[in-house]
This record gives sequence, C-alpha cells and structure tokens, in this order.
Amino acid sequence: MANHIVAPSSGGNFPAMLTKQVVLCSLIAAFGGLMFGYDIGISGGVTSMDDFLLEFFPSGEEAKHRAKENNYCKYDNQLLQLFTSSLYLAAVVCSWAAAFCCKRFGRKRTMQMAAAFFLVGVVLNAASVNLYMLIAGRICLGAGIGFGNQAVPLFISEIAPAQYRGGLNVCFQMLITIGILIANVVNYFTSKIHPNGWRISLGGAGFPAIFLGLGSLLIVETPTSLIERGKTEEGLKALKTTRGVEDVQKEYEEIVKATETAKKIKHPFRNLIIKRSSWPQLFCGTILQVFQQFTGINVIMFYAPVLFQTMGLGADASLLSAVVTGSINSVSTLVAVFGVDKFGRRKLLIQAAVQMLISQVLVGTILTQHLKTTNAIPLPYAYLTVFLICVFVMGFAWSWGPLGWLIPSEIFPLETRPAGFFFAVSSNMICTFIIAQAFLTMLCQMRSGIFFFFAAWIVVMGSFAVFLLPETKGVPIDEMNEQVWKKHWFWHRFFKPEDEEQAKC
Ligand code: BGC
Repeated sequence: MANHIVAPSSGGNFPAMLTKQVVLCSLIAAFGGLMFGYDIGISGGVTSMDDFLLEFFPSGEEAKHRAKENNYCKYDNQLLQLFTSSLYLAAVVCSWAAAFCCKRFGRKRTMQMAAAFFLVGVVLNAASVNLYMLIAGRICLGAGIGFGNQAVPLFISEIAPAQYRGGLNVCFQMLITIGILIANVVNYFTSKIHPNGWRISLGGAGFPAIFLGLGSLLIVETPTSLIERGKTEEGLKALKTTRGVEDVQKEYEEIVKATETAKKIKHPFRNLIIKRSSWPQLFCGTILQVFQQFTGINVIMFYAPVLFQTMGLGADASLLSAVVTGSINSVSTLVAVFGVDKFGRRKLLIQAAVQMLISQVLVGTILTQHLKTTNAIPLPYAYLTVFLICVFVMGFAWSWGPLGWLIPSEIFPLETRPAGFFFAVSSNMICTFIIAQAFLTMLCQMRSGIFFFFAAWIVVMGSFAVFLLPETKGVPIDEMNEQVWKKHWFWHRFFKPEDEEQAKC
C-alpha cells in the first residue's frame, strides 16, 4: 500500500509527498494542544463550581451568593484569578528551559518531558487538599504546557513539507479547541456531582498527557533536529521517509547549510536581540502572540460560564452556552486546516479581524444598554449576545488562534528558531496571565467597556496584518529569509550585507 496521502509535488520548491508518517506524527504531537486546551476549558468551569469555591476560596463563594450583588463584580477575587493564572507564569519560565531542551535533546524528547510534567500536575491537582497543593499542581501543569507549546508547533513545522505545513500545524490549534470543548462538556456533568465533581474535572487532564507521552514513542524526530545534533545519516534517512521521495538532496543540502550557520551562533538568545536581521521575525512572532491574546478570546474561554451568568443566564444555561461556543471554536478551526495553505495566512487574519471587530462592538453596545449593575439582561438580548460571541469565536478560530502559533514557528531561521519561538510562546503565556489575572477586575471596573477595549486592539492588529505582516504560505522553512523577509517592502531594510556579519556571537 502506498505510504503517501497526496502525490509528489514541488510546489514548495522541494519535492515531497504528504506521507502517512508525517500526518500521524503531526497528529500525535498535536495532543500537546489537547493538554493545553483541556486546561484552558476546565479552569473557568471549575472556578464557578460551588464545591470547589467552598473548599479553597470561601470568600469567592460568599461574594457569589451575596444578595443584590453587582452584576459586573460578583466574581472579582484575586486569589481565584491566581488559580487560573499561576499556570501561565510557570509556563513562561519553562518554555525558556524548553527552548534549550529543543536544541540540545530534540523536539521529540522535549514533548515527552512536557507529558511527564503535566501528569505530575494532574495528580497534585486532582488530589488537592489545600491551596498549596492546588497551586503546586498548577505550576507543574504550567511546566508541561511550557514544554509542550514550545516543542509541538516547531516539531510540526519542521516535519511537514512546505506546501502542507500550514494545515498540519493548525492541527495543534484544532486539538486545543477540542480540549476546550471536552473540558466544557466534562464540567457540565461534573458540576452536578457533589462534592468532588471538580476533582474529576481536574483529573481528566491526565488523558491527553498519557496520549502524548505514549504516542511520542511512535513518532520520528524531525530531520532538521537530527542533522542539527550531528546525526546526519539518521537525518537524511528521516528526510527520505518523511518526504516519501528519494530525491531529497536539495532539501538536505539546505538543512545542512542552515545547521552550519546555526553552529556558528553560540548564543542564540543574544544573537536574536542584537542582530538587526533577527528583529523582523522577532517582532512579528512576538507581536502576533500578543495580538492573539488581546483579541480577548480568553475572556470567553476562561470565563464563558461566569460571563454568561453575569448576563443573567442560569448556571446550567451558562455552561451549555460555553459548550456551544466550544463546538463552534472546534468546527471553525477546520476552515484554517484546509484554508491556510490555499488562501494564505494574511487573508485569513484580515478577514477575521473585521468579523471580530464587528461582533465585539455589538456585544459592548448591547451590554452597555441592557446590563445595568443589578438587573438581569432581557433574555432575547442574552441570546443575541451569545450569538455574537459565537461569531467572534468563529473568526478567531480560523485566524488569530491557529496562526498565532503557526507563523512564529515558521519564520525564524534555524539558528534562532527555538530561541525566537520562545519569545512567541512566552508572550502568549504572559498576556494570557495578564488577561486571566485582570479580567474579573477589569469587568468589575470597566463593565461593558471591556468589549470596546478589545475592539480597539483588533483595529491595531488588523492594520498590522494589512501593512506589516509578510505572507509565508508555501515557502520552505529554511528559505524564509531569502524568499520572504529580504523581499518585503518594509522588513528588507534590516538585511543590509554589513549586518549579516554583525554580531556572530
Ligand atoms: C490560544 C489560547 C486560546 C485558544 C482558544 C489558542 O490559540 O493560545 O489562549 O484559549 O486558542 O481556542
């Protein structure tokens, strides 16, 4: 039986087929996304469960039940927000360590470490008897996510042939969204199991980690990482099997050339910061992740149940609405899986920015007019708001969500790839932390104005995609500088010949 799914093509410059091995390896690696997504989805539901609040955050529980409460402020509790956000701080620190591991031990080993950290975190969380155990568990989960989010997108971008790289990489986001959805469904049922339903919710995170850990035993290391670590024979063999063609000489030589340049760079982090020709990738990779978070998506992902309760939908209806947004998130990601290598990255980002802007502004307007401090929003408006939030999530799911991971993983040259991608991952984590930590307080202070705040960000990021972001569709990963950056109307100026030699440190 043929080992390929799609016949040979050289659309991305080098001949390659879409082999079953590449698809399988990408899907297994994408289970790292399932861990991440499950965690994102589970936190919001768990922090609105009375049993959980009573056990660890009695003051939050009290506030929630206070009579005549203020709609916008019922859940404003810093400690509760710390539960959600502590994980992201740990993830920042750990993705830095993971950048070293990716280079030194390879992408595959780094993914295995991710699964191990995550499992420890799950056990600590599900068995928590006090706040310390709970936070320690969150920190281990954060380590797992830091390692996973660093290694998985890089792994997929390197193992995939250029012309299928986008779609395969988006599988990572696809599994993030499936993780969020599963978590929402799990929360819906466990919220009815008293008093330990929340333990089931948190313990469920073990499954994706086990899948990733066991699955990673089956996958091959990327040819680039093998060659980079001196295993040239193995790397050439892996290149032939992953590309499904014998004629890989041209691509092999490109990788060898890239690894030789990479070897001259002793301090990739320093190099990234002082070398002018690294700035365009560093800026674009980092800002894309900042923008991804400032769409406001996690306000919906973490706090959908809380948000919907604020709008006067009952507890059950709220979790159900979160399930609806979760399903829309997953299904819409398919548009990116199949569209990103066809339409290109920029078109998706620009189209979605317009869609998301309109829905944020409308949600803000409805809430300003109908949700006052202590009333319940009239039901038709509550449903209209849920609908608009779905339109927003849809746009995010086929654009800023997946492309926030894909583009930073494909734009750096090998010598600064793990280090550069670290900046992208960590800005994602820092911004997620800031939003997770600040949202309930911001909601309390800014009320419906919070939606206009995010709308303003969307205007900025849309303009960035129009004017500054280059298109990377179909370009081989080790050819980005030559084919993309040096030809861009703005970024080309960072590549003056004298700068190439500067700071080879
Ligand atoms: C983001 C997460 C977000 C998720 C929603 C991911 O790409 O990094 O912060 O919660 O998408 O689907």
